[in-house]
Parts: sequence; structure tokens; C-alpha cells
Amino acid sequence: MAKLIAGVTTSHVPAIGAAFDNGKADEPYWKRVFDGYLPSKKWLAETKPDVVILVYNDHASAFSLEVIPTFAIGCAEEFPPADEGWGPRPVPVVKGHPDLAWHIAQSCILDEFDMTIVNKMEVDHGLTVPLSLMCGKVSEWPFKVIPLCVNVIQYPPPTGNRCYNLGKAIRKAVESFDQDLKVVIFGTGGMSHQLQGPRAGLINSDFDKRFLDNFASHPDKLIQIPHLEYVREAGSEGIEMVMWLIMRGALDKDVREVHRFYTVPASNTAVGHLILENKR
Ligand SMILES: [Fe+2]
Repeated sequence: MAKLIAGVTTSHVPAIGAAFDNGKADEPYWKRVFDGYLPSKKWLAETKPDVVILVYNDHASAFSLEVIPTFAIGCAEEFPPADEGWGPRPVPVVKGHPDLAWHIAQSCILDEFDMTIVNKMEVDHGLTVPLSLMCGKVSEWPFKVIPLCVNVIQYPPPTGNRCYNLGKAIRKAVESFDQDLKVVIFGTGGMSHQLQGPRAGLINSDFDKRFLDNFASHPDKLIQIPHLEYVREAGSEGIEMVMWLIMRGALDKDVREVHRFYTVPASNTAVGHLILENKR
């Protein structure tokens, strides 16, 4: 049977992808960011997942404001990198795992989570930047990826509690899939940042650090945070952090924190990153 063994959270700042693609990763400003992921690359290379379920939000690349699914799961064979205005990122095409993706869609829908099934989709920096941070420069990604998009762009996004419970449903789905697969789940986005308006540039490290401190052992405190608190404390784009709670819900209650990294800023965003493993 498939096993969900660990989770990764990370910011997915687009400028990190641009720095990576344009050979700036060794410049001091960016090296500070990339160095925080050196232990993570080693961990991932040793963990060798077969499949990564990658929770992220599409930034008007695959979905416009004409259609806004709350939760969408990518069931295709592959997902090309999207052109976000400067041509597609020079990274490998993402290979999917349609059998597991369809199984998760079925299991979650029968568990009353109404997933949108996506059979054709380009994937933007929300998905490819975490892969670059965790895998480095590669000719192909070392595992299959199931994209799971969450609407955190247009009000109303789902609540943290709903995301956490979706994580539990995903865990149940994975562990009822009858192939021996090692599965890791990524929850991406955040941390505090605001891209527009009078508070553009806002970063709140106290909020971010409290979030990181509670994430492994007290997610019950985080799932109750209302939308307005995210906006007030973490900026208008801080709401992306509800996606981390899908990852947390998919893991055991008791987890081991393997790695933590926090730095400010990357572009105009606080970068946060955790790796958690199930203890059993
Ligand atoms: Fe984002």
C-alpha cells in the first residue's frame, strides 16, 4: 500500500525562481536563501519519494478570474511550466501520477470534499519554485508530482480548518491506494507578505515565528486563525499559509521536526520552510 511518510512546507516566491534560472544563486542576497535548503536537498535525496503531492496556488496562470476552483487536483500525465510573462521557466516538465491522482479525487469526493478534476494544466512558480529549492538543477524531476491547487487569490479562500481536514482526507486516500509508493506532501506559499496597497512590503516575523513554533505540535491553534487575522497580521498574501495546513493535516499527530529555516526577506516576502516526518 502507499504510505504518506513526511511533509515539507516552503514559500514559493517567484523571484527565487528568477534568481535560480538567471545564475544568481551564489550572490550573497540569494545564497542566504538557497543555503537554507541545503539540508533539505540532502534529506529529499535520501528519502527518495515516489510521488509528491504539491499543494500550491495558481497565480492566474492556469485559471483566470473566470473560473476559480477552491480545490483542484491535477490528474494529467504531465504538466508543462507556464509562461508567466517572461517565457516558461527552463525547468523540466512535471510528470504526474494519474492513477493515484484519480484515486485521491475519488476518495476525497466520496468523503465530501468537492475537488475539481483537472486533466490539462500548466503549472506556475507556485509549483516549480518549491521543486527547484528542494531538488536543485535537474534534467528531470526525481519523482512524480500531483498538483493540488487551492484558491487563495480571490475571496473567499477556504478556512484553515477546512484545509487541515482536507489533508486528513488526502492521507486516508493515499493509504488506501494499492501500490507500494512512498508519498511526501508539500504545503507551499507564505509566509507574511503583502504585494499591494498602502501596506505593500509588510512582513511580520513575530507572526511567522509563532506559526512555525506551533506548526508541528499545536496545529489546533493554527487551524482556528480567521481570514481577517491573516490579513491583519500576515498581509493580504499571508493567507497562502492555509495551504501549509493541508500538509499538516495529512501527517500524524506526533511528528518529528527534521529541519526549519526562516529568513527575511526574499524579494518582498518572508521565507519559511519546515520538514516534518511521521514518527511511526
Ligand atoms: Fe503565491
